[in-house]
Amino acid sequence: MNTDFLIVGGDGDLALRKLYPSLYYLELNNCMPENTRIFGMARTGQTQEEFLGKVQKWLKENVADELYSDEKWQAFSQKMRFIQGDATNPESLENFKDSHLDQDSVLIVYLAIPPMIFGKVTTSLEVCGLAKPTTRLVVEKPLGDSRESFMAINNELARVFPEEQIFRIDHYLGKESVQNLLALRFANDIFEPLWNSKYIDHVQITVTETVGVGNRWSFYDQTGATRDMMQNHLLQVLCLMAMEPPAVMNAHSVRTEKLKVLNCLRPVTPECVQELTVRGQYQAGEVDGVTVPGYLEEESDKYEIDPNSKTETFVAIQAEVINWRWSGVPIYLRTGKRLNKRHSEIVVQFKQRNHQIFDKQEHTGHKPNQLIIQLQPDEGIRLRVMNKVAGLDAGIPLEDGFLDLSFEKNKQQKHDAYSRLLSDVIRNDQTLFVSAQEVEAAWKWIDQIFASWKAVDQKPEPYEAGSFGPQAADDMIGKVPCRSWNNDIC
Ligand code: BG6
Repeated sequence: MNTDFLIVGGDGDLALRKLYPSLYYLELNNCMPENTRIFGMARTGQTQEEFLGKVQKWLKENVADELYSDEKWQAFSQKMRFIQGDATNPESLENFKDSHLDQDSVLIVYLAIPPMIFGKVTTSLEVCGLAKPTTRLVVEKPLGDSRESFMAINNELARVFPEEQIFRIDHYLGKESVQNLLALRFANDIFEPLWNSKYIDHVQITVTETVGVGNRWSFYDQTGATRDMMQNHLLQVLCLMAMEPPAVMNAHSVRTEKLKVLNCLRPVTPECVQELTVRGQYQAGEVDGVTVPGYLEEESDKYEIDPNSKTETFVAIQAEVINWRWSGVPIYLRTGKRLNKRHSEIVVQFKQRNHQIFDKQEHTGHKPNQLIIQLQPDEGIRLRVMNKVAGLDAGIPLEDGFLDLSFEKNKQQKHDAYSRLLSDVIRNDQTLFVSAQEVEAAWKWIDQIFASWKAVDQKPEPYEAGSFGPQAADDMIGKVPCRSWNNDIC
């Protein structure tokens, strides 16, 4: 059966920056089914040559030199067609169907357009008979800005397509390192007996970025770090870290287990919000040796900068999963823009025994064991262990060291997160996609945090660009001795 991609919003930013390069990587890895065709649909008129010229230019400039070849481009570009049309209008889709589609091909429709017009496109697909059981619909965030707005968007999709045909992308789930978390937990028996509140003191999940909001101030100001990163990427990573072992590695089992985690998150109410959360907003500073403006001094794109904006560019939350395995274990989540380094990691800190056999002098610097799972930019797993300092000193002096497993070979990979996810859409495998129930549960938890912030009027704390974020985030984790953010690794 042929596979056809229809990219709606086919000459937009997402299509050019992410989708065509990812599909090109599939070609490069010989993972593109032979008769695949890629149709880019856009309202703006342009010739096939102009369209291909744009895509090629983008690829040449952005794909690593060793991954671009004219030969591969030729093979790839032959699969691509530009279609001028408006997908919200059934007539455009009808013409497209009559001129290009085979009766029995699998159609993958990627909505690379704003969610407010998703419903119009799905209705058009329905009207012209393209919402068939073999059609797959791919969408990605922003899927609303609250549970209510997500439900409104989702109801429009669900009216036309059953859940098994809707693929909701969270690109973090396409990252090799995030999938490796599943391998680490469930393909290595040594961790499972320790993976619970009896042995784990706390967990940290950090995603820091050095970039600012760039040229999308207006969008970001309506969104902020909590909606942009926490509701989706960080909560998805939290789910994979905390979920029970799925019975089998398939979409139903994995998504069911992740949903249970989201439903067990302790609600953040107005009574505890100030203790459990920190919001921040960056001010001018220096990142990688370059002086950068503060959030309120960025260049505006669409609208005037609101000098009183209270949007958070940093957020830290002390979360807890209230269940048999995790109750009592704080899970500290932290993400922000214009921070010291681009770095993502999960730190699992183990408890220390009350009784220490090394006397005070010898065990100065005795640190708890930590399992550090680095997600990006370099992937690796490090286990912090205590070692004897070599030499003739009396007793057993200790120092900490690392058992270090880096995944050097993953650096040579010829694909990105989107390629993995798009190839799973072709395979019709939803394991690495987010279910509607998960998105809803995540919004429910986040909505309450926003309501609590509003109730207590919790404002973002300023932090200097290039720092580790507001001091209040350090104070939040540092309330308990022996706990601090793992910034020394960053
Ligand atoms: C996107 C956010 O979802 O993820 C961006 O909208 C953010 O604001 C990006 O920069 C980070 O993704 P990555 O893969 O670079 O960590």
